[in-house]
Amino acid sequence: MPKVDMRMHFAGVSMKNPIVVASGTYGFGREFGEFYNIGQLGGICCKGLTFTPREGNPPPRVAETPMGILNSVGLQNPGVDAFIANELPELRKHDSCIIANISGNTPEEYAIMSKKLSDAGVDMIEVNVSCPNVKCGGLQYGVVPELAAEVTEAVKKSASVPVMVKLSPNVTDITVIAKAVESAGADAVSLINTVRGMRIDVKTRRPVLRMNTGGLSGPAVLPIAVRMVWEVSNAVQIPVLGMGGISSGEDAAQMMLAGASAVAVGTANFVNPFAALQVRDELEAIAAAQNLSSVTELTGGICPW
Ligand code: SIN
Repeated sequence: MPKVDMRMHFAGVSMKNPIVVASGTYGFGREFGEFYNIGQLGGICCKGLTFTPREGNPPPRVAETPMGILNSVGLQNPGVDAFIANELPELRKHDSCIIANISGNTPEEYAIMSKKLSDAGVDMIEVNVSCPNVKCGGLQYGVVPELAAEVTEAVKKSASVPVMVKLSPNVTDITVIAKAVESAGADAVSLINTVRGMRIDVKTRRPVLRMNTGGLSGPAVLPIAVRMVWEVSNAVQIPVLGMGGISSGEDAAQMMLAGASAVAVGTANFVNPFAALQVRDELEAIAAAQNLSSVTELTGGICPW
């Protein structure tokens, strides 16, 4: 079979393939680096960072569901300064695009973190306005177009690298938020973050998660994600990083046909540490079987009925 060119450009950043690992499912890469060279990935999106360290929500904060997991981790992380000092130098040794995911309590916090991270040498900022598990700085900004735009503008003013905004599926019309952040200067959007959900233990009659609700991810959300990526890709001009339930090359190809330029593998990393590499290889095989010379030819290739 002819070789497929897997290289691509995403929002001005060169990537060796369109496979990224999703924030919150890969830590800062250390554990996965024990299994393989993480520099083989197109991009590594780091666990969400905040201005100061956070312990996250009390347990239980993860629960299995049919075809997925619910989490209410609550942005546990060492804080932006500790990331820059202790994690980024190690990550930078790998030839992969490093994406820092950030959440702030105010637009100013987002802006300060963006400046620090740009100066420290990350390749891209992912602005998280879609975490469903915190009272401040998550979904509060991601469900109101004006607030999502305000945060995007603040980050754009202080970041010297491309800015991608991570969108929530927990809205009536995701294209409204996508258009608002595009108008505010976002270089790309990523979607979807998790879908709000809940489980109840019938014996104790208590919610399974200590915070009552959490975010659903995994194969169960794939069709929702594909639909939203398709809608957003048709509504904005900026590139889309598609994610939500991808665990095979076929899932990734669906997401690209729907309009994604690149894709992120998330929950599948918990099941199989090699999942992202397998998705890459399967995607390449699909593109080769369709006689494509470049994987980018899949993007937006959906055929109308
Ligand atoms: C979390 O840490 O609670 C998940 C992060 C997110 O959904 O953005």
